[in-house]
Amino acid sequence: MDHEMDLENRLVSMEYLPEDDGDNPLRPRSLREYIGQEKVKENLSVFIDAAKERHEALDHVLLYGPPGLGKTTLAAIIANELGVNFRITSGPALERPGDLAALLTNMEEGDVLFIDEIHRLPRTVEEILYPAMEDFAIDIINGKGQGAASIHLPLQKFTLIGATTRAGQLSAPLRDRFGVIARLELYTPEELAKIVARSARILDVPCEDEGALEIASRCRGTPRIANRMLKRVRDFAQILGGGVIDKASARQALDRMEVDELGLDMVDRRMLEAMIRHYNGGPVGLETLAAMIGEEAVTIEDVYEPYLMQIGFISRTPRGRVVLPAAYAHLGMDQNGQTMF
Ligand code: ADE
Repeated sequence: MDHEMDLENRLVSMEYLPEDDGDNPLRPRSLREYIGQEKVKENLSVFIDAAKERHEALDHVLLYGPPGLGKTTLAAIIANELGVNFRITSGPALERPGDLAALLTNMEEGDVLFIDEIHRLPRTVEEILYPAMEDFAIDIINGKGQGAASIHLPLQKFTLIGATTRAGQLSAPLRDRFGVIARLELYTPEELAKIVARSARILDVPCEDEGALEIASRCRGTPRIANRMLKRVRDFAQILGGGVIDKASARQALDRMEVDELGLDMVDRRMLEAMIRHYNGGPVGLETLAAMIGEEAVTIEDVYEPYLMQIGFISRTPRGRVVLPAAYAHLGMDQNGQTMF
């Protein structure tokens, strides 16, 4: 298969695909249904109840962490639990201050505005967000030159929920305006198995515990990947097996899709092997790594590295990325990049 194709069609991609969305029946709608992220959930639940009791808008919330962990889902749940409208947009979609002004002036009291990829807001838009968050008002300049006039628009009190994969890239003034900052972590295999079992029930596919756990241990800590894998495993089980997702059918499906026991696919393995063969296991600079696998540096940092670091396969050093012994063992390679049998 063509290398580029590989990258776009990765089963283990954490990027959002159209099939993940829409009126996705797999998305939990309440905190009670939402599995994992226990600390974040417990705290949010207190803040939501307190805001409701005071009849106030919830403080602005920043959710950050690797893609695919449910930031958008959680934001929608917060709005749902608060019983308010949920408006959704993203940093890159807000090109001009007017785009944000149009959204904000249409909000009702207590509504939630969700801005995904908030680290990609243009500066000019970010600047009108500050007074909107702090004083619930915006000042916009209407017209140009001599006839230009500044208009002061008061807003209803609203809650901004921002999501980002990289909290470190937010400007300090923006970060400081969030009253609640929550970091989402990769899920444990046990949590993921519960998510898979729940999704299988909703999709009406018979799924044994061991089948769920097999998917759970190969989805790199990420529910979005788990749910995508579940749908593909279901296809294999339906056509080639007895229609039941059990350990054997899950293994067969995932092996055939070249996702290994730890959830690594061809791209991960190729990247690790190249680091070992051509760079002696590192350190390899981020940009070199990016060129090596034809991805952007930020994609490596957000998508590939968190999981490889979590399982102890690579580490970040000031001089670049280093392959760790566990990765050599998993790939069956020795320190010289020779394959061991
Ligand atoms: N689907 C995706 N993320 C989920 C979660 N955290 N809990 C339940 N279902 C999910």
